[in-house]
Amino acid sequence: MKKVAMLLSLLLLLATMAACGEAPASSGANTSSKTEASSSAAESSAAGSEETPASTAGGDVLIMATNAFFEPYEYYEGDNIVGIDAEIGAAIAKELGMEFQISDIEFDSIIPAIQSGKASMGMAGMTVTPDREKNVNFTKSYATGIQVVIVKEDSPIASIDDLEGKKIGVQQGTTGDLYCSDDYGEDAVTRYSKGTDAVMALLSGKVDCVVIDNEPAKSFVSQNEGLKILDTEYALEDYAIAIAKENTELLDKVNAALDKLITDGTVQDIVDKYIKAE
Ligand code: ARG
Repeated sequence: MKKVAMLLSLLLLLATMAACGEAPASSGANTSSKTEASSSAAESSAAGSEETPASTAGGDVLIMATNAFFEPYEYYEGDNIVGIDAEIGAAIAKELGMEFQISDIEFDSIIPAIQSGKASMGMAGMTVTPDREKNVNFTKSYATGIQVVIVKEDSPIASIDDLEGKKIGVQQGTTGDLYCSDDYGEDAVTRYSKGTDAVMALLSGKVDCVVIDNEPAKSFVSQNEGLKILDTEYALEDYAIAIAKENTELLDKVNAALDKLITDGTVQDIVDKYIKAE
C-alpha cells in the first residue's frame, strides 16, 4: 500500500514537472538561434549579441515575435530593433523577471509562431480582429492605430472614394490587406512582405496607393520625397499583444504587467519618446 502511494505521488510530481515545463511558450530548446536581432531597448542590450539560453537564472525568456519594418513601433537602428513595441516588450519582460528577445519574422508568420510555441507573444502594432481572436488571445490594448492611404503628391486619388479600380499596395496579412481585399477585390491588391516594399512600389509607380497604419505611414512619408497621406481615415483599430490560446498564465501575467506600466506612466513615456506631439 505504501509503495502504491509513493508511486502515485512520484507520478504526480512528474506530471507537475511536465506541466510546468510546457507552460511558457519559450521553453523550447535553442529558441535563441531563431532570433535574428535582439532589442537594444532597456537593459536587454547587454545580452544583445550573446547567445542567450532559453532558460536563465531569473526564469524563462520572453520571446517577442514581430516584423521590424514598422517605425515607430519596431524598426532597425543599426543591428538593434527599437521602437514602442520593443521598449514596452522589454519593460514587460523586466516586470516578469524574464530575459527578453525579439524575433523578426514575416508579419503573417507571427500568429503561427505563437501557436507553435516558437514565440511567447506577438507584438507588432498588431490589430485585434475577430478572425485573429479565433487563433490567439489578445491582451488589453496598449495603443490605437488608423489605416490611412498614402499616395504620390500629384495623385488623382483625393479620398477613399477614389480607390475603386486603383492598384493598392499593402503589407501581406495586415488589416490593410484584409480590408482592401474585401472592399475592392483581391485583384486590386498587391501584397508585399514589408510595408517598406509597398512604399517603394508606390514610388516607382507599380501601385497607385498604399494602405497602412498611420504612424508608419507618417514615417514613410517623412523619409521619402513626393508622398502624402490622404486626410480621410480608413479604419480605427486597437493594438494589443497576441499570446497562445492555451497560455492563459502568460496572458494574465502580461496583462498585469501592462496594467502597471500603463498606470505608472511608463507606456505613455515610451509612446511620447517615439511619437512627438504635432
Ligand atoms: N495593424 C496592422 C495589422 O495588425 C498592421 C501591423 C503591421 N505590423 C508590423 N510590425 N509590420 O494588421
